[in-house]
Parts: sequence; structure tokens; C-alpha cells
Amino acid sequence: MKAISYSRYGGPEVLAFGEVRDPKVGPDAVLVKVRAAAVNPVDWKAREGYLEGTLEAVFPVVPGWDVSGVVVRPGVAVSEFDVGDEVIGYVREDFLSRGTFAEYVAAPLRTLARKPRNLSFEEAAGLPLAGLTAYQVLIKRLRVRRGETILVHAAAGGVGSLAVQLGVHLGARVIGTASESNHDFVRRLGGEPVTYGDGLGDRVRALAPQGVDAVFDTVGGDALKASANLLAPEGRLVSIADGDVVNYGGRYYFVRPDPEDLQRLSDLAEEGVVSVHVSETFPLERAADAHRLNQEGRTRGKIVVTVDWEQENA
Ligand SMILES: NC(=O)c1ccc[n+]([C@@H]2O[C@H](COP(=O)([O-])OP(=O)(O)OC[C@H]3O[C@@H](n4cnc5c(N)ncnc54)[C@H](OP(=O)(O)O)[C@@H]3O)[C@@H](O)[C@H]2O)c1
Repeated sequence: MKAISYSRYGGPEVLAFGEVRDPKVGPDAVLVKVRAAAVNPVDWKAREGYLEGTLEAVFPVVPGWDVSGVVVRPGVAVSEFDVGDEVIGYVREDFLSRGTFAEYVAAPLRTLARKPRNLSFEEAAGLPLAGLTAYQVLIKRLRVRRGETILVHAAAGGVGSLAVQLGVHLGARVIGTASESNHDFVRRLGGEPVTYGDGLGDRVRALAPQGVDAVFDTVGGDALKASANLLAPEGRLVSIADGDVVNYGGRYYFVRPDPEDLQRLSDLAEEGVVSVHVSETFPLERAADAHRLNQEGRTRGKIVVTVDWEQENA
């Protein structure tokens, strides 16, 4: 099959488009014909070798953990999905090897849910990793409750844009950091935008003089530091970007594949509670450009790569 792969760590230029061996389908996995795969910062961090200390790379590595597509072959012990079912997945293993930037991916059941019917494949591909992160942090870790005020960093980004919508759905008032050009976007998601950088603390205090009940840090560094001072008494703090969060009394979190959470998220998308904003799509062959663009750190919503099956079949 055709796929994007890299055989050594490095910049976007190590990504090559070409033939790789077909995936094998385990007993409790399904073979998914990939329609779209979203880009996440972890993809280029892994490609650069930043995760070397935690995740083993089995080269050549096919990048990508997010997918939307169609089941073409269920594993021998699978009764949950049939051929033709449309699915989404956060296809993360405990090592880097066979990702979603490919024509096909073998996805274990624990990574899958049904695709929301009202979302395009491109939109649906942007939901799993970013959406699960927002869902698990807000609901399971921060336990956001109705009437609370929360602060979400990088509110216009992949995780942040979904966290704002989920926070609003949970009945919270959501303050979200973003640059000026994204303020209208954050407002449309239901959040109250504040500009990040110097003076962030004062701007948040102007909106929430008593401080905020919970902070979802997706940026780390100065944003984390400023956040710790903005917490109301008993306020909760979780970071997905900076392990130093423990020094501020908070917890670090890393998103987990969870089929029940993912199905719930898919249902919320189908109910119109959360939507995915796709800012840019690239054909699979141009995955390196998709990585480059995300690596600039200014993505609004999600960047997605697509497999053009019509062209393949022509
Ligand atoms: N631990 C985990 O489980 C986990 C899971 C998912 C993601 N992450 C990490 O969380 C981070 C965010 O992920 P993502 O997918 O949301 O990234 P993303 O979509 O690439 O984020 C891009 C957004 O970040 C905003 N931004 C950049 N610098 C900012 C700053 N200093 N303050 C506030 N906003 C800023 C940009 O907004 P403007 O254009 O308005 O500046 C842009 O909208 C990444 O580091 C990623 O690796 C961790």
C-alpha cells in the first residue's frame, strides 16, 4: 500500500511517500481504509525524535494517530464492526510504527468508535485525539461542573477549540486564550477570548476577579506559570504540555485510547454539541507540508490529510 513514512528522525523532509508493506490485522483489530487523517503536534514531535525517551520507534515509521475511514476487514474475533462501517480512531500503540498516514491502518478495537454521521470524513478525522484529550481532561480529570469558570489555553487550537465547546456543554463559563485574529472564532465556539502573553493574568482577572475554578493548560511555560496564580481556592490545574505542572499543584495528563469515551464524543458531535473546524486539507502525498504548517504553532482547529481513492481507482 501507499503511505507516508520516515526511516530516521528529522525535519519534515524525512517524510517520504511510497510503498510500505500491508498491515496485518490482529484478531481484535479491523482493517480501516483511510479516508482522512488529522495532524497533531505529537506527530511532528515524534518525527523529530522528541519522544525517543518514552516511545520506541520501529523504522520505517508511518506517522499519524488520528483516522476516519471505512472498515474493509474485521479481525477474526471482531463482532463489533462489519465491512462498510464508517469509523473514527485514535490509533495509538505504545511504540511508533504503523500510523494512519497511509491507505490502510489496522486499528485495534480499543482505539475505535463509529463515525458521527453528520461530519465529513475530514472533520471526523480531527475529532479523536484532540477531542478525547479535551473530553478526558475536562470530564475525568478536572471534573468541570455547571456554573464554574474555567480557563482553556490555546482555545483556537485543535484541543482548545474542542475543550471550549465541551466546557460550555458542561455548563461552565469558558475563558480561552488566543491571539486577536482568533477572538471571533473563540466567541463562535462559546468562549470568552483573552489575548495571551504579558498581562494575561490581569486580563483574566478582569473577567474573573475571584479567579478560575479550573485551568486546562495546553501550552506550558509562562502560560502555566500565569495560570497557577489565577486559580481560585481549591482550583484545579491540569497540563497536557508541561510536566512542571506538578510544581504548581497540578497534574500532567496524556490522552488514552478509550472506545467508550470516543463513542460518547462521536455522539456529542452527532448531537451538534461539538464541531470540528478544519482549517486546511492536504492530499496524503503532501503530508510534509501539513506537518510544516502545524509545526508553526498557529493552527486554527485541525489540519487534515486525505487519501484520494477516486484518483487511485481511475
Ligand atoms: N498530553 C496529551 O495527551 C496531549 C494531547 C494533545 C495535545 N497535546 C499537546 O498540547 C499542545 C496543543 O495541542 P493542539 O493539538 O491543540 O495544538 P495546535 O492545534 O497545533 O495549537 C495551535 C494553537 O495554539 C495557539 N497558541 C500558540 N501559542 C500560544 C500561546 N502561547 N498561548 C495560547 N495559545 C497559543 C494558536 O493560537 P493563535 O494562532 O491564536 O496564537 C493556535 O490556534 C501541543 O503541545 C500538543 O503536543 C498533548
